[in-house]
Amino acid sequence: MRDASPQTTYLKDYTVPEYLIHSVALNFVLDEENTLVTSRLTLSRNPASRSMETDLVLTGENLLLRRIVLNDDTELTDKDYQKTLDSLTVYNVPQQQPFVLTIENTINPKINTALEGLYLSNGMLCTQCEAEGFRKITYFLDRPDVMAKFTTTLVADKGRYPVLLSNGNKIAQGELPGNQHWVSWEDPFSKPCYLFALVAGQLECLEDKFTTQSGRDISLQIFVEPHDLDKCAHAMQSLQNAMRWDEEVYGCEYDLDLYMIVAVSHFNMGAMENKGLNVFNTKFVLARPDTATDSDYEHIEGVIAHEYFHNWTGNRITCRDWFQLSLKEGFTVFRDQEFTGDRTSKAVKRIEDVNMLRTRQFAEDAGPLAHPIRPDAYIEINNFYTLTVYEKGAEVVRMIHTLLGAEGFRKGSDLYFARHDGQAVTCEDFVKAMEAANNVDLSQFRRWYSQAGTPVLTISHTYNAAGQTLTLTIKQHCPPTPGQAVKEPLHIPVKVGLIYPAGSVAPCQLEGGAAADEVILELTQAEQDFVFTGLTAAPAISVLRGFSAPVKLVMERSLEELAFLLSHDSDTFNRWEAGQQLVGQVITGLVADVQNNRELRLDPIIIDAFRQVLAQPWEDLSYFSLLLSLPSETYLAEQMEVIDVVAIHKAREFVKLTLAENLQNALQTLYLNNHRDESGQFDAGAIGRRRIKNTCLSYLCALDDLAIKNWAHQQFKTAKNMTDQMAALSVMVNNPHYARKQCLTDFYQQWQHEALVIDKWFALQASSPAPDTFATVQALMAHPAFDLGTPNRVRALVGAFSQANPLHFHAANGQGYQFLADQIIALNTLNPQVASRMISALTSWRRYDAGRQALMTAQLERIMSTEAVSKDVYEIASKSLA
Ligand code: TRP
Ligand code: ZN
Repeated sequence: MRDASPQTTYLKDYTVPEYLIHSVALNFVLDEENTLVTSRLTLSRNPASRSMETDLVLTGENLLLRRIVLNDDTELTDKDYQKTLDSLTVYNVPQQQPFVLTIENTINPKINTALEGLYLSNGMLCTQCEAEGFRKITYFLDRPDVMAKFTTTLVADKGRYPVLLSNGNKIAQGELPGNQHWVSWEDPFSKPCYLFALVAGQLECLEDKFTTQSGRDISLQIFVEPHDLDKCAHAMQSLQNAMRWDEEVYGCEYDLDLYMIVAVSHFNMGAMENKGLNVFNTKFVLARPDTATDSDYEHIEGVIAHEYFHNWTGNRITCRDWFQLSLKEGFTVFRDQEFTGDRTSKAVKRIEDVNMLRTRQFAEDAGPLAHPIRPDAYIEINNFYTLTVYEKGAEVVRMIHTLLGAEGFRKGSDLYFARHDGQAVTCEDFVKAMEAANNVDLSQFRRWYSQAGTPVLTISHTYNAAGQTLTLTIKQHCPPTPGQAVKEPLHIPVKVGLIYPAGSVAPCQLEGGAAADEVILELTQAEQDFVFTGLTAAPAISVLRGFSAPVKLVMERSLEELAFLLSHDSDTFNRWEAGQQLVGQVITGLVADVQNNRELRLDPIIIDAFRQVLAQPWEDLSYFSLLLSLPSETYLAEQMEVIDVVAIHKAREFVKLTLAENLQNALQTLYLNNHRDESGQFDAGAIGRRRIKNTCLSYLCALDDLAIKNWAHQQFKTAKNMTDQMAALSVMVNNPHYARKQCLTDFYQQWQHEALVIDKWFALQASSPAPDTFATVQALMAHPAFDLGTPNRVRALVGAFSQANPLHFHAANGQGYQFLADQIIALNTLNPQVASRMISALTSWRRYDAGRQALMTAQLERIMSTEAVSKDVYEIASKSLA
């Protein structure tokens, strides 16, 4: 156990900073093991602070303090200050006028395996400061509402670190004796220290430019390790697309003359929006048709856009404190979702986002770690970069967009930018700007920021033939979450459309309103009736179109009704959703049959529905593929009272096999019609062809058919792009296949020098339902290419096994749980952030049977009692058990 229980930070305790930092001049003499940092801070008392404190308290961790000088002339002695493990207090600093504090300290990047602060990745030095990493570089006021102007000088060996980067514009450089050189950078914009970055290393750069709407030329540079220079073109194009989109949709233009992106191999998350110098996980930069899949290409464009969009939503306007994280993350995720929808297919993007929300965020909201999108307490802020803050946060912004309309939303964002440029603000400020620009009242809507949990909407309806009216009764209820026993009703936009039995659009006309093709109902009460008039027949009801709110729906619907919506709903989301509900209901029934040892039989309505989908011409082949996809095991598990991973797997596999048997001809034709040898085509057409073809292949490979197994083998051998090669390999790994072993070996041989491809190789094996998977995972842990110090590798093996392989992770004997706990304990000292994220597979223990519950909690207890347990791990493990 820890010596002292770690402290909790509360939103209610927020106070403004006692001191402000106006400017920072940083000087780094870079060295792998001993970097010298000199920081010259210009400070003054904050006039807004009511505190009478005359001592200055700075944060700092793992720093070796060398000296402190006040006002450039007085060196402080140890009577003038006090150090603790995480702070430096300077006694009696000047109160009446600004003062200058120069601090010298050293740090050791080489032993920094937590990848926070200054660290080493493949010989390159780089930083990660969000959320609280700057304090591992030097003493500072490490909080987002302290914003300062930074100038940074980097001094380093010219051979090892020929490229020296920091935020802003390069202002000077020079040579020094002993093969050293230096570069100075100046960032003209005030920023919190979490947006500081430096990078030094042997990097190559792809350069291009962007001309802004006002005619300024921006230089764009992407820095990578030399062997990756041939994988940057897509990232560059993505950046240009994002810059254009933000001008067109939000009127936001880039503000510096230079935009730099650096790709690093060791990174805790996806990417980081440091001002003018984004640092990225290589996974979200590097792509070549033969090394990256279509979905990698899409994710790269999305993450490049996300970090770029942060320049306005995050950097120019930042967060007052970390409880406001969703202010920048929710909004920026919403922006990147809309961007990707515009670039690819709106329907497909929405479905993918909702799939992720409903499987992973809903689980978070229903579990012991549920928190509002604006949390009110944390032990370790790194634990709150969650699906709730990001994805549910984006849904909340999307609901505002739905309620105000695109134009109203734009008025609101314009006002938000105009009011708060250069400030550190709150979620409340965002909502106020939206209200003021549109003259609306969002007081009840604000509860979305403070209330955790997923609301459940229960919908019933009655049709009155004589009056030609339809009454829709909607009840809302939100189950209690930790610390919030009672929930207030929320303001929920429910988009509805009506369809006549013949398939035509029925008018949506609320009592006293005008007729429209669809309406947005504003639910504000615990129970509310909505009366539609002028309906000549009882219509089918399409509710929550476009998934207009992050809620669960309870509505009695027959399989026939769902099949009708699957063929007739004009809303692309609800059409797909009807299919998912249809298959979902049937699989749920089959799960019960498996549990009761009954013979399995697939309701022919499913086969008919799929046959109909297959018979139609589809323009958007990616959407078509989604219509043919079965709900995931994780989604099905979410719907069950007590999760039975074995029964779910069996039932779902049975449906897949039965569909393949019954629709073999159609699936084969579709496969063959769309199978081309395409190398580098990334237009929607080629992507769609690959997606539908590989969806068919996955069904067909459930069959025990040698000819089809040969197709897969052939596709693997001849593929000219990673999408096709990986799709073929995965059907061979996930189904019995004669060439499985050989192809896995060949794949490794072929790609052993491409780390990101080898990650796929690890993840694929770790997530396979094949019976030998656990043994394979254990063997892979000992593979020379496995490394616990590389987060991407850990996520590929340990993460994929625990989070994407329910069948084997939840083995009844508990071996999966024990394995995961072993890795978490090893990671706890190495990289607490990654360790803590790996716990997520254990936190939902209450959802399983008693035997598994006991095994899972035993491992959580074991994790919690690890010696020197980190705050990160302690918080998640203890709250999971509470
Ligand atoms: N702000 C980053 C983003 O949204 C994510 C981030 C937060 C991060 N903390 C981090 C990235 C730590 C890397 C490491 O894109
Ligand atoms: Zn972000």
